[in-house]
Amino acid sequence: MTDQGGPARSESTDSRWAGGVILLLSGPNLSLLGRRQPEIYGRETLADHEETARQAADRGGYRLEVLQSDHEGELVEAIHGARGRCAGVIINAGALSHSSWSLHDALAAFPGPSVELHLSNPAAREPFRHRSVLAPVVDGSVAGFGGLGYRLAVEAIIALVGTRGQMP
Ligand code: DQA
Repeated sequence: MTDQGGPARSESTDSRWAGGVILLLSGPNLSLLGRRQPEIYGRETLADHEETARQAADRGGYRLEVLQSDHEGELVEAIHGARGRCAGVIINAGALSHSSWSLHDALAAFPGPSVELHLSNPAAREPFRHRSVLAPVVDGSVAGFGGLGYRLAVEAIIALVGTRGQMP
C-alpha cells in the first residue's frame, strides 16, 4: 500500500528502477488507430502515439518498450514479463479495460507503478465503458486527452518511480 492510499501490493519499487524500461501495452483494435472512428480516437496512428511516448521516456532517461495485441493472454503474459524487469507499465487495454479480470489480476501482481490510459473519455460515452476493472489496481488513469495522454502517462510513471518506499 502506498502512503497515497494506492493499490495494495506485495512488493514495492524504489529508485533503483530509475532510468529503466517503461512498458506501453495496447489492447484490441488499437492497431486500427487513425482509421478507426477518427471522430472519437483521432487521426494519429498507434505508431504516432508510441513515438510521443518514446520521446517522453527518452527525455526522462528511460527506454520505452511497446506491444500491441488483440489477445488478452498475450497482454497478461507481457505484464508477467515486466515483473522485476520494467520500472512501470502503461496500458490502454481498449475494451478489455471494461471486462478483463485477468488483466486486473496481472496488474495487481505488478510491483511497480502502472497507469491506465485512454484516448477518449470513457466516462462520457456509453454506459458499458463507464466501469474500468483495471482502475482499482493501477496507480491512476489518464483519459480524454487524446494523444497528449501518452506523454502524460509516461511522465506520471517517471514521477512515481523513486517516490515509492524502499524494498522491504
Ligand atoms: C479506449 C476506450 C475503450 O472504451 C475502447 O474500447 C477502446 C479505446 C480509448 O483509448 O479511448 O478501444 O481504450
